[in-house]
Amino acid sequence: MIYSQVLSQTNFVNEDELMYPFQERGLQFGDGIYEVIRVYQGHFYLITEHIDRLFRSAEAVKLTLPFTKERLFQLLGDLLKVNQIKGDAKVYLQATRGSALRDHVFPDVDANFYAYAQGLPRPIQKLTNGVAAITQPDVRWQNCYIKSLNLLPNVLAKQEAKEQGAFEAILHRDETVTECSSSNVYLVKDGEIRTHPETNNILHGCVRSRVKVLARQLDIPLLEKAFSTDDLQQADEVFLSSSTAEIMPIVKIDGNKVHSGEPGTVTKKLQKAYEEDAGLTASIFAQVR
Ligand code: PDD
Repeated sequence: MIYSQVLSQTNFVNEDELMYPFQERGLQFGDGIYEVIRVYQGHFYLITEHIDRLFRSAEAVKLTLPFTKERLFQLLGDLLKVNQIKGDAKVYLQATRGSALRDHVFPDVDANFYAYAQGLPRPIQKLTNGVAAITQPDVRWQNCYIKSLNLLPNVLAKQEAKEQGAFEAILHRDETVTECSSSNVYLVKDGEIRTHPETNNILHGCVRSRVKVLARQLDIPLLEKAFSTDDLQQADEVFLSSSTAEIMPIVKIDGNKVHSGEPGTVTKKLQKAYEEDAGLTASIFAQVR
């Protein structure tokens, strides 16, 4: 369910009043950037990280946002307030290069911006039991650190996963695993976590940056070193991370079980630490505590 009050530029309007012209850069070129921010119990999680990344994406594509970081922080807080959000949700926001007759060259117009909140319960079942994934070639461009609206390769990979009965597609460039279609990916081998380094080939996930902190706190070594699709098959554990999927075990890849086919110890430790970090009162481990 989408909450009725949405941000259009810096004003609140009713959801069905927000209209976009068909001569719009986001629609015609995917010429824009976005963020998805987690809300738990009415509070943002990792909001500073998301706002910082939005501004980094904007700078990378030479897009001028119609507010400062501080003002955006305030506006997003108001978005939760005016909708009286008390539960778990996500906020989607996007900025495009604006409305103008179609021409590749940048138009001399202001950026378009909107943001809305949508109710989003935690994916308890998947967090507890783990999910299946498939591997897919990473056919995206070379600036995946930019959270751009151009998501066609991601959409196609995720759809392929769904059609094969899986939740995610693990992407690889020449057998080097980069990330998933809409999340970061990690393996655990001999007690050590490995994930692709923060290069231009992956999105620098906000939860990923938190996973690094949590691993340090838990004294679990985390190596930012790329691994191969073969390494995935030999892994003790595999998991993914994102603002909507949290830290989620991957228990099957291309039809083969990851190790025993159950969520692993390291993954579960991180999930527990994540719940504490996000200040969650309800736990996926509630039944076993
Ligand atoms: N996706 N990699 C990709 C390609 C992503 O699209 C995402 C997020 C992530 C994880 O980033 P973060 O931890 O900041 O959520 C990694 C969001 C949730 C989406 O597009 O819906």
